[in-house]
This record gives sequence, structure tokens and C-alpha cells, in this order.
Amino acid sequence: MLWFNVLLFLGIGISVCASYKILSISHISTKSHYILSSRLVEEIAKKGHEVTFITPYPKKTPFKNVKEIGLEGLQDLFPEGSMFAHEGANPLQKSFFVNQMQYRFSEYLLSHEKIQNLMKSQERFDAVILYYYLNDAMLALAHHFKAPVILFGSMPLYASENFLLSFPTQSAYVPNIVTEHTGHMDFWQRLKNTFYDHAMALYYQHFMLPKHAKLVDTYIPGKPDLYKMLNNESLALINSHVSTTEPIPHVPNAIEIGGFHIDEPKPLPKELKQYLDDSVNGVILFSMGSIVRSAHFPEEKRKALLGTFSKLKLNVLWKFEENLTGLPPNVKIMKWIPVSDVLAHSNVKVFITHGGLLSTMEGVYHAVPLVGIPVFGDQKMNMALARSYEYAVEVRYTDLTEETLSRAIDQALNNPKYKRNIEKRSKIMRDRTLKPADNALYWIEYVIRHQGAPHLRYPGADLNWFQRNLLDVVGFVLVVTLLPLVAATLVIKRMVKKKNKSKTE
Ligand SMILES: *[C@@H]1O[C@H](CO)[C@@H](O)[C@H](O)[C@H]1NC(C)=O
Ligand SMILES: *[C@@H]1O[C@H](CO)[C@@H](O)[C@H](O)[C@H]1NC(C)=O
Repeated sequence: MLWFNVLLFLGIGISVCASYKILSISHISTKSHYILSSRLVEEIAKKGHEVTFITPYPKKTPFKNVKEIGLEGLQDLFPEGSMFAHEGANPLQKSFFVNQMQYRFSEYLLSHEKIQNLMKSQERFDAVILYYYLNDAMLALAHHFKAPVILFGSMPLYASENFLLSFPTQSAYVPNIVTEHTGHMDFWQRLKNTFYDHAMALYYQHFMLPKHAKLVDTYIPGKPDLYKMLNNESLALINSHVSTTEPIPHVPNAIEIGGFHIDEPKPLPKELKQYLDDSVNGVILFSMGSIVRSAHFPEEKRKALLGTFSKLKLNVLWKFEENLTGLPPNVKIMKWIPVSDVLAHSNVKVFITHGGLLSTMEGVYHAVPLVGIPVFGDQKMNMALARSYEYAVEVRYTDLTEETLSRAIDQALNNPKYKRNIEKRSKIMRDRTLKPADNALYWIEYVIRHQGAPHLRYPGADLNWFQRNLLDVVGFVLVVTLLPLVAATLVIKRMVKKKNKSKTE
């Protein structure tokens, strides 16, 4: 009887907490990308799975169940310098820049001794989670370990990525990252959007993919063919949610987990909590995120900011990475701020942000109206959407003066619609069947339980792009309807000619 119980216990134990081995690859060294990847790894490890984590920021003491492979050199590959320089750059140039950067990341990672050694080892993985953004060469790692691929990203799925993944292309209602549109576009905007989507996808497909294929050929044992690995992902985990990004149709293996990085608020450091508690007139939190450094604001913009702040009754808490003297008494700078935890404090009334997606989600989660100063990447688009949902006031970086900023803060603070709308969005974000992190875990385990998820692959993925978009059908219909018309016109013309001829004879 005892033995039976022990066996039963073991059996249940095994079936309840099957522990899997997962390789998670995160190569981008910007903080927001790292935060997302690291949070996901933490959640997976908490469930008792063993994770090998390729990361640009190895920890001194990794989470339990996590083995880290540190590629610190990736940090140096990210371009130095002020991101304000990119404000207003040509969209295609920006796209070109990002493509080259992703290629360098891919080359660095695959050629690295630690990754080469990992491939030579006898390690086996049940799944590979790949941070995916124009870095197809890295798919070869999953191929090498014969494991299903789970793609993971920090942004919603844009149409050009949909195109590359053979998902339905959505240029009609998903704005390209370089535009400042929402999903509601007029004809000319849709035309422009279609152009950007396809120019970017085709550029990647024709100029970058062959280079990635060469990387795979050079660095992966057995020289596998990259083109056979494309569009073979079992799952795509997408950082979007209807509360902060627009509702769009997804294929069945694309799962939205937007907001999963937001934790229950943690207790604040004592001094910071005291400061927030004491700020009885309210606090404005000001953070430009991690890539755009506040210290890079030019002198004239910094003057405008401080001039605005000095006239406010509220306190201003500013994430500023360097020392700054001569601050007005109501402005406090800190090199690092736990943004989400501060937003949870009831005295925080307005959040001035660069409009990055994670910050936007945190502002919405905690229902703090936004003033956005977007600079690059998806920030302008995020703000365009936030404006259309009326929970943010935008100030153009180029128009940033004491006057425009004061007016924006006044609006966000005193026009009740901003608070009302962001509270509504916050409720939407929190109302879900499963917590987004639990949902991610469910799907990761699902893919492993089924050894990949080919049963979720929609048939459209096996068509080429003109078939998928019915261009062949449209072409056929055009030909079939036009041919008789053309033929009829020709016949009539000839008859008229003949008649004229017979008249003149
Ligand atoms: C495609 O994915 C399946 C399922 O995960 C895997 O078995 C197969 O090896 C993959 N194909 C390639 C070419 O990597
Ligand atoms: C800022 O001030 C602190 C304390 O006075 C000092 O230790 C630090 O080196 C300064 N940093 C810079 C970038 O000037």
C-alpha cells in the first residue's frame, strides 16, 4: 500500500510538473528588450523548467533553474550616441540602419565561441525561444537542436513582418512602424503604408536574407539551408493587447501577451516612498526610457523643460542619467527609477514619456494620463494611437518649448477626459481570461507537449504572396472580363473601317 502511494505520488509528481529544457535567445542589448526577455525567462523558470539563457547582461546570480550564457560584447554593438539625431531621419534609411544592426548581432552571436561550444555540446532542448526581429540566421540554432521554434518580440506584429512570416499582410489597417498613423487610414495613407511595408519586406528578403543564409552556411555545422527553416515557427508570442495596441486578426499560433512584463507593484525604496508620500500637490513622473537619454536633450530643450517645471505646483521626478545642478526646488532627478512601481503611487498625476510601448503599457496599467514626447522607432505611432484613444497629449520634440509643454501638462492634468479614458483602458488591460504571463507559459508548454504545433499552421502560409493576396485571381478576372471587351472593340473598329472604305469606293 505504501509503495502504491509512493508510485502514485511519483506519477502525479511527474505528470503535474513535467520539467522541460528550454533555450532562450535574447540578443538585443537595449533595456526594454532585455526586460521583456528576462521577465519571460523568469516566469518559465518559476514553473520549474530549466532555461539556458543567451543574454547580453548575465546576472551575478541568475534565477533558480536558469543557466546564463553571457554575450556582453553585444552591448558594444549597439550604436552609441544620441537618439535625438534619429528624429526626423528618412524612414527607409532608418530601416536600412536597423537591418544592418540586426545582421551584425546575428554574425556576432553565431560566430561566438560560447555559442559554437554550445552547438558542439550534447545539450538537447525541448523548445527554442528566439527574440525575433530581422535576425533569421538565428533560426538555425533551433534547427541545429531539432527543437520547435517559438518567436518572441517586443512589438506588435507589423505588416512587413507578417509578410515575411507568410501571415496575412495587413497593410490596409496596420500602420507601418515608420508612419504616424492609426489603423484608420485614408487612400493615400494606405498607399504610402503599402509602399513602406513592401519596400521593407522586399529589401530584407532580397538583400538581407541571402546574407543571413551565408552566415548559417558559415557558422552552423552541416551547412543547413536557411530558406528551409523560414516560416516554420510553432508559436509567436506578441507584445500587444487591445488595451494599448489596435485589435487586429491574428493567425491561431500568434498569441498576444502584451503587458505580461508588468508585476504587482513592489514596495518602493524608503526614501522614494517618503518623497512620493510627501508630495501632497502631486507628482509628475518624467522618463524618456533607456535608449533616449535625458542627458542628451540639447541645452535649449533642457531650458524649456526646467522652465516649465519651475512654474508648477506639483513636484517633478525626472529620470536623468547624469548630474545636473541649478534645479528648481520642485524637481528631483534620479539616475534610475522603478517606473511601474512609482506609477502605482496615488500621488503620481501625469507621466511624461517618450511613448515607448512598455512605458505606454505601464502608464495605462496604472491609469496615469500621459504626455508623450516621441522620438524614434514605434514611439510616434504609439502616441498617435494614444491620442486617438484620448489618454495622451503629444508634444512634438521639434516643437518642444516652455509654452507647448505647459499647455500639454495642463491638459493632461486638468481635462478630466484624459483620466477617464486611461482608467477605461486600464480596466480593459486587466480584464483577461488568464494573466498574460500565465498565458505565455500555457502556450510554451503546449508547443512542447505537442512537439511543435504544425496543426496550428494556417493553409495561407503555404501559398506565395500573390496567391495569398488573391492577386492571381484578380489578374485572371481582369483578363477574362477585359479580353471580350478588347476583342469587341477591335471587331467594331474593323467593321467601321470597312464601312468607311465601302462608302468611299
Ligand atoms: C520545422 O519545425 C518542426 C517542428 O518543430 C521541426 O521538426 C523541423 O525540423 C523544422 N524544420 C526545419 C527545416 O528546421
Ligand atoms: C556626479 O556626482 C557624484 C557625487 O557628487 C560623483 O560621484 C559622480 O562622479 C558625478 N558624476 C558625473 C558624471 O559627473
